[in-house]
Amino acid sequence: MDMLATRATWLAIAIFFITVVATKISRWKSNVHLFPTRPLPPVVNVLALLPSIFNKGFGVTIADLHTRLGSVFTINLFGPKITLLVGPDISAHFFQGLESEISFGNFAEVTVPIFDQEVLYGVDMATRSEQIHFIVDVLKPSKLRSLVDPILQEVEAYFASWGQEGIVDLKHELEQVLMFISSRFLLGYEVREMMLEEVSSLFHELENGLNFFSFLFPYIPTPTNRRRDKAHIRLKEIFTTTIRSRRSSGRVQEDALQRLMNSKYKDGRSASEAEICGMIIALIFAGKHPSSSTSIWTGAFMLSNTKFLIAAVEEQKHIISKYKNQIGYDAFSEMDTLHRCIKEALRMHTPAQMLARKAHKKFKVQTKEGKEYDIPEGHNIVIPTALNNKLAHVYNDPHAYDPDRFGPGREEDKVGGKYSFTTFGGGRHVCSGMALAYLQIKVIWSHLLRNFELKLISPFPKVDVSKVGQEPKGKVMISYNRRQLQCY
Ligand code: HEM
Repeated sequence: MDMLATRATWLAIAIFFITVVATKISRWKSNVHLFPTRPLPPVVNVLALLPSIFNKGFGVTIADLHTRLGSVFTINLFGPKITLLVGPDISAHFFQGLESEISFGNFAEVTVPIFDQEVLYGVDMATRSEQIHFIVDVLKPSKLRSLVDPILQEVEAYFASWGQEGIVDLKHELEQVLMFISSRFLLGYEVREMMLEEVSSLFHELENGLNFFSFLFPYIPTPTNRRRDKAHIRLKEIFTTTIRSRRSSGRVQEDALQRLMNSKYKDGRSASEAEICGMIIALIFAGKHPSSSTSIWTGAFMLSNTKFLIAAVEEQKHIISKYKNQIGYDAFSEMDTLHRCIKEALRMHTPAQMLARKAHKKFKVQTKEGKEYDIPEGHNIVIPTALNNKLAHVYNDPHAYDPDRFGPGREEDKVGGKYSFTTFGGGRHVCSGMALAYLQIKVIWSHLLRNFELKLISPFPKVDVSKVGQEPKGKVMISYNRRQLQCY
């Protein structure tokens, strides 16, 4: 009996040890993946970069780091880390990753006091997704055809006020005409007809609220931020009055404001007044600012590059001979040369210089040279769009304005892979207003090319480094002479 008990005891001890060892081995095996199996990106301290940022600017500093460290590197900001991913080869996870893996994080906080805390980056993910759905619906390409006539009317009416000849600031003129266009189909006729001047200057105050300082400290009561907040309150008052007056009179209009007023959440709730105002402000903000800077750069580049100006004018002659006075959606879709001139201006001076996300889970990247890195959870991830647009292994002679690079036989934006041209973002959050942006700018420039002979008379504009987008600095003076372009 004793013998049996002793054997049983030894057996129990052996089983216990085997179980402990097996558990340890299996835990070790399952833990192995928690440790980085690949190296982390090289790290630089932000302090070491300050002299370069101060002397050369952030963009050049990033370009220098890219040359020195390769396409993946991390900047340590005394704790928080920013990892830059340079080049189309390593951008896929940034654009396609699930929201639970990589999202906007706090980067969009700066937009909350501009748009409203009731919309988009001020609300939870589920509500935001539904609101983005409302906005995307307003911007559907299928709705664009019906927008051509109103945009054309605004453009023709605006430039009809120019004399036979004259000198104007192109920047001021194009900002104005784009405000008329946006207000026509976004804000509705009430604002367009009665208070556009006030609304334009209020939007200007909101735009000033988007600067590098407010990115870091969106709520600090600087004079600029205070003016931004006052402008926001007044805009909300104006739009709320319009919404109430439409609702009480039963009047229905064909514009984005109306469509947003009719939007319903999945639970059947209608969008509130504050939400409608916030979404309208977001739409104007997302669209007008980048479209106006792109239309100015497009003009500055075309007027400084005779070869492409001539090609764009020739294309207009073809369009006139084909469509006579019936220039509509199909004619604009055929303006490939003008399209490429705009796209190349966007490549040279992209309004969204950098796109940013927060990594909620570790992920792996592989560079085009085959090097692999683990990017840890918690890192802020940045795609430097402006630098990507100038990469020599993607774009031939990248600092030259050459719209033909997008033409048949070259297509440099495609040869470099899916994420070579990310001026409009890509993947999950690709710009829903891209088609509208091209359309507005084409309507403006095709009208100008057909009706005026233009010359750039101030020096080619520099980039305003104090602004978040790559805006032209100062006035952009042009001279004009009215003409009627002859068709073939
Ligand atoms: C030249 C003009 C434009 C440029 C360069 C541009 C650029 C961009 C970029 C880069 C993004 C993605 C941001 C990110 O991934 O972090 C974006 C998103 C967006 N854009 Fe544009 N945009 C332009 C015009 C417009 C216009 C005209 C509208 C509408 C009126 C618009 C509405 C939007 C919206 C609603 C989103 C958010 C999409 C989402 O999160 O799902 N954009 N835009």
